[in-house]
Amino acid sequence: MKVMQTESLTINFGGLKAVDEVDFAIADEVVGLLGPNGSGKTTFLNLVSGIYQPTSGKIIFQQEDITGSGAHVIRGKGIARTFQTNRLCLNLSVIDNMLLGLYSQKESTWWQAILQPKRCRKELRQNIEKCLLLLEHFNPDLVEKAYDPITSIALIDRRRIEIARAIVGDPKLLLLDEPTAGLNSEETTQIINDIGKIRQGDQQICMIIIEHDMNVISSICNRVVVLNAGKKIADDTYQEICKNEQVQTAYLGG
Ligand SMILES: Nc1ncnc2c1ncn2[C@@H]1O[C@H](COP(=O)(O)OP(=O)(O)OP(=O)(O)O)[C@@H](O)[C@H]1O
Ligand SMILES: [Mg+2]
Repeated sequence: MKVMQTESLTINFGGLKAVDEVDFAIADEVVGLLGPNGSGKTTFLNLVSGIYQPTSGKIIFQQEDITGSGAHVIRGKGIARTFQTNRLCLNLSVIDNMLLGLYSQKESTWWQAILQPKRCRKELRQNIEKCLLLLEHFNPDLVEKAYDPITSIALIDRRRIEIARAIVGDPKLLLLDEPTAGLNSEETTQIINDIGKIRQGDQQICMIIIEHDMNVISSICNRVVVLNAGKKIADDTYQEICKNEQVQTAYLGG
């Protein structure tokens, strides 16, 4: 069954069609999103996560038309993401950054914080526990560093924290925009393992991963979709994508 699908999804920036009538579907699987620089990959994720509103077309998530919904609404419905450039709050601690991932699920209101402080403290304790468990799952050292500022954390651990923050609210669909950018090959292998761990958990999270590293794509993706100049030009297994002439031309030029 399809978890998310787009129908003729399009966005124009002035005269530029950054995403051009893209039909895309994802079930319980990991889909790689490939394409040369500027082909519309990040813009596609920005549309699906509600950061941009489409010029035309539809986004259906778990049978519901979510086209036009804001980013916070879409996050609450179960689509989480990470960004191409790190979006952690640098002056906050590791645990505070993690807690932001649970903000849309927080039940206590400001007036309960005043009138029912015990209830709020209980919710906060439970949320902290959930965040620490997830940090431990990715790297036990991060539990000891939970109250350290992000500025003192190594790049690879910042990536882990971003991914952990995205999944702490139990999304159904996770969008990862170049999770290994800026990492060396050893760190890339570690992040691939971490992404693999997400699929081994109790809850099945499906994923769309934008990635330029073909080792990452071939090792974790069930299927690959290729964009070029905003258009979908291929949708197949990694092996078939490698043989696809249109894809080769898009990457290497005529
Ligand atoms: N907010 C915007 N306003 C105007 N043009 C934009 C905007 N966002 C993206 N674009 C343009 O849309 C096109 C697609 O950009 P996008 O960032 O989606 O590419 P990408 O495939 O993610 O590239 P990369 O691999 O370099 O990250 C580019 O030409 C870009 O300049
Ligand atoms: Mg991009």
